[in-house]
Amino acid sequence: MENYPKRFIQAGLIYITVGVLLGVVMSIEPTLGARMRFVHIHINLLGFMVMMIAGVAYHVLPRFSARTIPWPNGVKYHFYLQNIGLIGMVTTHAAGGNWREGAVHWLFVLFALITALAILFMFYNLFFVLMVPKEEPEPATQITADMKVGTVLDEFPQSMAVFLETGFESLANPTARKTFAKYVSIEKACEKHDVDVAEFLIKLNAAVFGSSTSPTMPESSTGSEEAENKKPGKEIVQGESCQADTMVGSLIKVYPATRSVFEKHYGEGCFSCPGQTFESIEETAHMHNIDPKIILGDINAIIADELEK
Ligand code: HEM
Ligand code: HEM
Repeated sequence: MENYPKRFIQAGLIYITVGVLLGVVMSIEPTLGARMRFVHIHINLLGFMVMMIAGVAYHVLPRFSARTIPWPNGVKYHFYLQNIGLIGMVTTHAAGGNWREGAVHWLFVLFALITALAILFMFYNLFFVLMVPKEEPEPATQITADMKVGTVLDEFPQSMAVFLETGFESLANPTARKTFAKYVSIEKACEKHDVDVAEFLIKLNAAVFGSSTSPTMPESSTGSEEAENKKPGKEIVQGESCQADTMVGSLIKVYPATRSVFEKHYGEGCFSCPGQTFESIEETAHMHNIDPKIILGDINAIIADELEK
């Protein structure tokens, strides 16, 4: 478990011990009850209850939503500010801060504000870690026959020259580009103009991507390739470097020395987690609130060392 969630839980346990002991003293000596009521309530609720919930939530929610905490340092600031605020509040309240005029009262208000700020930090991190990020459409890496002519022209304006020289002169007209080009696929357009689709796609891809990779026809873009994309992670083989989508289980099998990276960053409990066999490096890094680049850097350094031997 990461450092701060653990500290929140430990602090919560200390607070409940103190709060309950105070409660016992308050029941023995009822005159203390009225005076220490605030201290008892806030040590138990703000100290134990909120800190336990925060500690567990900081640990669980990023895993639950597979996202990194939006402001990792905020967890640390929350921890210190809530402790300073709570201890300050209960001390100044016990010294008469909430009903006496003057400096003690304003000190109580100051600690109250510090506590409130800590809670705002918690709100920010826990609220937004639950927000699902907007999925950015992946930029196309190849022009395929099923793509609309208009989409290709919008995304790759440099393809216009190829369209014009192949006989699609009407595309020079902006109105044509805004109307039928949006609805007609490359395949259909080629059929109408009696142009060889495969040949045209090679020309288009070469103009846009600078290479003549074999173009993908609509039939072949479905099936196994798509199923592959849905896999949780990628297998790795000896000699390859590790990528963000490499499966942890596969990596450890091929390069057992990389175990040390997971032990260092995720703790020794990592390998008892059933998720590690099929989750990708990126997913596990997000779950542990660590930048995947740091993990990948450490892993690839070990792999490079091993391959050099
Ligand atoms: C052995 C354990 C506990 C003892 C002996 C104890 C004792 C007391 C006493 C004597 C009071 C009355 C104070 C007064 O107004 O005169 C009180 C109030 C209160 N205690 Fe505890 N307490 C214990 C544990 C807890 C715990 C674990 C929590 C919360 C997690 C808690 C929350 C509260 C709250 C919220 C009040 C105020 C209730 C109200 O508004 O009337 N107590 N407790
Ligand atoms: C910045 C944080 C907070 C501040 C400044 C604050 C302040 C106060 C104050 C001034 C009182 C009235 C005390 C009196 O009568 O002398 C009070 C009562 C109380 N607070 Fe808080 N509080 C905070 C957070 C919380 C939280 C998070 C909880 C619960 C999770 C809580 C639960 C209570 C309860 C149960 C009472 C007693 C109500 C009663 O009189 O029966 N407080 N608080």
